[in-house]
Amino acid sequence: MKYKNIVVLTGAGISAESGLKTFRDNDGLWEHHQVEDVATPEAFKANPDLVYRFYNQRRQQLLDGSVKPNAAHFALARLEQACEGDFLLVTQNVDNLHQTAGSQRVLPMHGELLKARCTRSGLVHLMTASFNAQDRCPCCHPASTLRPHIVWFGEMPLFMDEILAAIARADLFISIGTSGTVYPAAGFVAEASWAGAYTVELNLDASDGLFIEKRQGRATKIVPRFVEELLLPYSQ
Ligand code: APR
Repeated sequence: MKYKNIVVLTGAGISAESGLKTFRDNDGLWEHHQVEDVATPEAFKANPDLVYRFYNQRRQQLLDGSVKPNAAHFALARLEQACEGDFLLVTQNVDNLHQTAGSQRVLPMHGELLKARCTRSGLVHLMTASFNAQDRCPCCHPASTLRPHIVWFGEMPLFMDEILAAIARADLFISIGTSGTVYPAAGFVAEASWAGAYTVELNLDASDGLFIEKRQGRATKIVPRFVEELLLPYSQ
């Protein structure tokens, strides 16, 4: 393959055909909620029951087998296997579908639905059951509660140092299924351009991002096709 160091950024659009709603394709409504009613620290303080219920339902969707990785997730796992240099998949999604599809180097910068975090110590636990304000962190102070391990609006995304270091070395940056409206992820294409990477967007609707190449279409069609092209012998 022509490219050695690859960074892929994914957003909600890659999981749309797995049956998960995106954030901004439905009049700002997300699973029938305003995002700010369920995805901010203020919302958690004001109405914790609603926030717990919302994330419990979404976690359950992942656990009951109704949501599965699609051809785009699998194509990225294949690309990682074929990459001879450094490969990093940065996802804004919290749905674990890249990991289920077999991707190894995944940094979920907005957290993970299948984890919970102690509100006192910050310790993170695998969580495959529903939980709420009555549940206690298993390893801390007896009064410690758990919150979803999700980066809400107004909170710091995770793994930023690692992500920016990988982008600085990248010769290929691919953005898939994200509207490019939420920073810092929306700024990664600029970082990749400064690093001299070839930048590609694969999305249903072209974003405003300054990519060298933009391809429009459904992720399950255009991602496997793009990966096949990259893996062709002598591909450019
Ligand atoms: N295939 C490819 N792209 C698609 C598909 C599809 N089948 N369906 C939708 N899209 C594209 C849309 O055109 C849109 O540009 O996916 C993008 C989804 O954009 P958003 O809903 O804004 O999702 P995302 O960019 O992941 O949001 C970023 O915002 O609320 C926060 O923390 C949340 O991680 C999320 C962040």
